[in-house]
Amino acid sequence: MSDMTFEFRNEGMVVGLPGGRAYFNYYWLRDACVSCIDPQTRERVFDASELASPPRATSAHVDGGMLVIGWQDEAQASHVPIALLEEVATNGRADDPAEIARALWYHDHQPDIARVSQQAVTGTKDGRARLARALIEDGIAIVTDMEHSHESLPRLVEAIGPITPSAEGLFFDVRVEIEPTNLAFTAGPLEMHTDLPGEETAPGVQFLHCLENTVEGGLSLFLDGAAVAEALRAADPEAFNLLSSHYIPFFYRHDNWDYRAHQRVIETDLDGNVTGVTISQHLQDNMDLPQDLLDRYYPAFLKFIRMMQEDRFLMRFRSEAGNCVVFDNHRIVHGREGYVAESGRRHLRGCYTDRGALRSTYRVLARQGYTGESAVGRARARA
Ligand SMILES: [Fe+2]
Repeated sequence: MSDMTFEFRNEGMVVGLPGGRAYFNYYWLRDACVSCIDPQTRERVFDASELASPPRATSAHVDGGMLVIGWQDEAQASHVPIALLEEVATNGRADDPAEIARALWYHDHQPDIARVSQQAVTGTKDGRARLARALIEDGIAIVTDMEHSHESLPRLVEAIGPITPSAEGLFFDVRVEIEPTNLAFTAGPLEMHTDLPGEETAPGVQFLHCLENTVEGGLSLFLDGAAVAEALRAADPEAFNLLSSHYIPFFYRHDNWDYRAHQRVIETDLDGNVTGVTISQHLQDNMDLPQDLLDRYYPAFLKFIRMMQEDRFLMRFRSEAGNCVVFDNHRIVHGREGYVAESGRRHLRGCYTDRGALRSTYRVLARQGYTGESAVGRARARA
């Protein structure tokens, strides 16, 4: 590493890293100095706006895995980890252990769903990492052997992240109600949807604890919205672009609330990867895109909805009492077949945490060496 080369320019320098030459801006290098982060609070303590003049490097050398940079107007040298420079040169940003490629899945995913017992999730780091990883990679997992008590669900959720409230409060019960405020609380079929897109930040990770299910019918339906979105991108890139670049309105309205928010039907990240979808015909407001844009938007939108109804995407299974299905509410589209209310009892108790909390939990575990099991590893173990 001692033979690294440096070329000083006006606003940045070219560093000859082992993997190739890469350009770094001086402000960025100054900000990346390890002394900018307070070791106690782990927060940034350097403020680049306090520099009297733009930083300009006058010297550079490597010392113990650090690039040491001398500055024209500062007495103190900066120390930037070479590993960080390599990560940024390769991917544009520092490595993130929670940045795991999504494993898209289709109608036959049920035998491959990650299953972890509640005891493993709440009592072991390995179990917790396995659940968190499956939720990041597959977007869905089943927690088995749930204790049958009122405290059971919050205990599980809090192993992943704090419970986040929705319009329904901290918890909601899915069962037949006399005066339902939502289709979910009836025995009718529930069309494929993501939850509560009328909220400014729609719920992130959904937990559905099945307390009781003895009815005829009422199969739970799930599909991977990211898989459908990628299929749309392959079949009709123009439709994909329309759905991933425009926001449409959703609501959630009743006597005592009136939520409204705009969402993208296909949600993408900074790199253009699909991170989720938002679909809810029963909570969709009147479209308010320009009318002439709707000439193109509606056909694209309906094409996506019809695609979602294709059998190749739809996984169906019966929610078993004692299990808790956990899924990314921004990616996994879910619904339910209708059931005969008089045939028995069906009671699911649900709540949410957010996706940021899930990733935070996974990063902390990964840092301690608990990375869970990859979707590929799970499939291989089963084969
Ligand atoms: Fe739902």
